[in-house]
Amino acid sequence: MNLIQRCRDDFPTLQGEDAPAYLDNACVTLKPQSVIDAINDYYTLTPGCGGRSVHRYGTAVSKTVASAREKLANFLNAPQANEVVFTRNATHSINQIAHGLQWQKGDVVLTSDREHNSNLVPWLQLEQEQGIDHRVVESNEDNTFNLEAFEDACAEAGDKLRLVAMSHVGNLDGVSIPIAEVTKIAHDHGALVAVDGAQSTPHMKVDVQSLDIDFLSFSIHKMCGPSGMGGLWGRYELLDELRTIQSGGQTVTHSTYTEANWAKPPARFEGGLGNFSGMMVTGAAIDYLSGMNLDDVHDHEIRLNRIMTDGIKDLPGLEIIGPEDPAKRGGICSILMHDLPSHEVALLLDEAAGVMVRSGQHCVHSWFDARGHAQGSLRASAYMYNTEEDARLFVDTITEIVETLG
Ligand SMILES: Cc1ncc(COP(=O)(O)O)c(C=O)c1O
Repeated sequence: MNLIQRCRDDFPTLQGEDAPAYLDNACVTLKPQSVIDAINDYYTLTPGCGGRSVHRYGTAVSKTVASAREKLANFLNAPQANEVVFTRNATHSINQIAHGLQWQKGDVVLTSDREHNSNLVPWLQLEQEQGIDHRVVESNEDNTFNLEAFEDACAEAGDKLRLVAMSHVGNLDGVSIPIAEVTKIAHDHGALVAVDGAQSTPHMKVDVQSLDIDFLSFSIHKMCGPSGMGGLWGRYELLDELRTIQSGGQTVTHSTYTEANWAKPPARFEGGLGNFSGMMVTGAAIDYLSGMNLDDVHDHEIRLNRIMTDGIKDLPGLEIIGPEDPAKRGGICSILMHDLPSHEVALLLDEAAGVMVRSGQHCVHSWFDARGHAQGSLRASAYMYNTEEDARLFVDTITEIVETLG
C-alpha cells in the first residue's frame, strides 16, 4: 500500500467532492480522525486537571499526558521524557529559550537571513533590552546555506559567541541547513545551538542525539496535532539551569511568603492550568506520525514539488524562491509574483479550484524587506496526504490565472 492509500482516508476534511487541494501545510496541517476523536475523548470522558487532582479524571489526565510526553521523547530520540516541555507553539518555545538563558551584554547570537519572525524577533528584543549582539549570516545567492560565511561569523564573534539559533528548514522556501555540521562548528566555538524545527519535525526524522543540538522548538499543530500546541526539547542540564518565563502554579515544589522552590523540568516551564486536551491529543498525533515512514513522506513531498516546479517555472512573471531543484526545497514551492498580487491569486486559486495556499510574507518580513518584495510570495506546501492531482490542479489553475490576469 502506498503512502496516499495508507493515509488519505484518515482525514475527514479530504473526503467528499468538496475536498480541497490543501497545500498550506507549512502553516498548519490537517488532523486525522484519531486526533479529532482524542480531543472529543478528553472533553467527554475525563475532562479533569492533570498533575494536581488525584480523583479518577485527574489521574487519567496525568497518565495520558505522561504517556504523550514519553511518545514525543521517543519520536525525537530524546534521552529522557522530562526533557520535553509542552508549550503553546514554537514561538513560545523559542521565547522560553531566549528569555530563560542568562545573558551578558555583548553576547553574540547568530541566526540566518531566512528566519521566521519567531526566531528573529526574540533576539531583536534581547538586543534592545539586554544588549546582546544579534548577527545575521547571509545565505548563498540561491538561499542555500553558506557554511563558509557561517564559519567566518563564528570566528569573528570569537569567545563572545553564545548561541546559534537557526531554523532547520525554512518556511520561506523549504531550504534546509546542514544542522549537524553547523552544530559541530558552533560547539567548537563554545556556543549553544537552538534549532527551530517547526518545518522539519513534521517532515523528516529529527534525532536530537545524533544531531547533537542543545534545544529544539517545534509546532505540534504542524504535525497533525491540535492547534495551540508546541513543544520544546532541551538537554536536561540546560533546562535545569533555565529560568522559567511563566512562574506560578505547577512551577514550584513549595513556596513561602518569601521564597519559591523551583520545580525540576519540565514542570517549571508549564505554569498554570495547561491545555490538557492538547497535551493528551499530542500523543495521538505522534502515534499517527510514528506509523508513517518519514523518509517516504519526504520523498513524496519532493515528488509533488517537482510537478509544481516543472509546471510553473517557465510562466511569465513568476520566480521560485530558493534553488530550482525541488529536492533542495522539500515540499515547499514559494513563488514571487512579479506582476500579480499574491493575495488575490491565492483567493482565486481557492474560489476557482479549491486549491488552498498561503500568500504574503509568511512572517519572514526581513527577507522580503531586504529584497524589496513587499507583497511577498505565493507558497504551496505539500504533506503526506496530498496527491499528484493536487499538484497538477495547482499548476493548471495558476497557469490559467496568469494567462487571464497577466
Ligand atoms: C520556521 C518556523 N518557525 C517558527 C514558526 C512559528 O511556529 P508557531 O506558530 O508554532 O509558533 C513557524 C510557523 O510557521 C515556522 O514556519
